[in-house]
Amino acid sequence: MALQSLALQHTFDTQDGKMTLVHNSESATSFSLPPMDIIFGKTPAMQAVRNKIERVAETDVPVLIQGESGTGKELCVQLLHALSQRSRGGLVKVSCPAIPHSLLETELFGYEKGAFTGAMNTKLGRVEQAHNGTLFLDEVGSLDLNVQSKLLQVLQDGTFVRVGGHESRSIATRLVSAANGDLRTQVENGTFRLDFLFRINAVTINLPPLRQRIADLPILIDYFIEHYSKVFRHTPELLSKSAMRLMQSYHWPGNIRQLENLIRSYVLIGSEDALVAELIPEQGGRNGVTAEIDLSEPVSLKDITRKATHDLERQIILKVLQANSWNRQKTARWLQISYRSLLYKLSEAGMPEVPPRPLRNPGVKKNDATLETVQAASSSRTRVY
Ligand SMILES: Nc1ncnc2c1ncn2[C@@H]1O[C@H](COP(=O)(O)OP(=O)(O)OP(=O)(O)O)[C@@H](O)[C@H]1O
Ligand SMILES: [Mg+2]
Repeated sequence: MALQSLALQHTFDTQDGKMTLVHNSESATSFSLPPMDIIFGKTPAMQAVRNKIERVAETDVPVLIQGESGTGKELCVQLLHALSQRSRGGLVKVSCPAIPHSLLETELFGYEKGAFTGAMNTKLGRVEQAHNGTLFLDEVGSLDLNVQSKLLQVLQDGTFVRVGGHESRSIATRLVSAANGDLRTQVENGTFRLDFLFRINAVTINLPPLRQRIADLPILIDYFIEHYSKVFRHTPELLSKSAMRLMQSYHWPGNIRQLENLIRSYVLIGSEDALVAELIPEQGGRNGVTAEIDLSEPVSLKDITRKATHDLERQIILKVLQANSWNRQKTARWLQISYRSLLYKLSEAGMPEVPPRPLRNPGVKKNDATLETVQAASSSRTRVY
């Protein structure tokens, strides 16, 4: 099923300082996802993700979504749910690390009246709330082994027992999990059950980090500028080509979340210098020359110093390029190297050689579906920073 835009009905329930998404079809609150063309952009890696999501969405197979922080794991879960046959049921999120271990079992499976001191009434757990919907286990790697085995039971035959109860209950839900880290390593360390891993990852979706889908950057920037221009009722200046190039050569450790936050501040504050300053010190901090080395094994002095020289060169070139508005002829003269040598160093450092496509003016009309979603999003999108 190919959708251009999706609007879901949800309410947000804040527990333990984390956002918990609970579906409520009676609710007037609407949550909009960006259009599919924005979410998946045009890079082959994301097209593969799109194909996988569209293929598995309508099935009930458990899906594991992996990716660095801010790559859009939760967004993909929302999409999977919206495209699924269970979209009229709830999308119930469990932020696994946010719930204390001692409470996790009762949070997930609920309890019977009188199960323990203070259990005055029967309480439904999140698993039961997700009946006929989707259960989303976020950061699944932090679940303890005991809870993993109880969830394994749910996955095997759809049954569980409330804490303090005797009766086995059946539920029908689709499980989607997300993980930042490598669950296989956890299996090797004995902190994650191999049989549970097999069950939750019938299909695995790996989201690429933003630095591996730089061709999608202009589409995303464009979208966030439009979105936040509507939210803040303020349209900023078009970003300069030099700022665009800087963003294209940046390593984006916080992925799309970091990009979104940056653009949001840009729209709010309107200062390109502030945006550039956010990125430049980071480049220095990451690549700074340091004598910190791993002493557990022999090191190659030649390799380390070659890398340090490259890193330093990269930072200096970046600064001089920036100071010369990315004019490469001027930059080469300033650095007292040949133009050819500058081009070589740029390509070696993975910096862009061709000018990025200029940003669309946020005021320019897009196709109706996109505009509609952006409008819906600007009025109702709920975000946690
Ligand atoms: N492909 C995308 N298109 C548009 N916006 C996106 C995309 N991916 C992520 N975002 C936005 O970036 C922010 C972070 O996304 P999300 O919360 O889904 O990331 P995550 O992988 O779950 O991060 P974490 O591991 O830190 O929980 C959200 O505001 C989301 O809407
Ligand atoms: Mg997340």
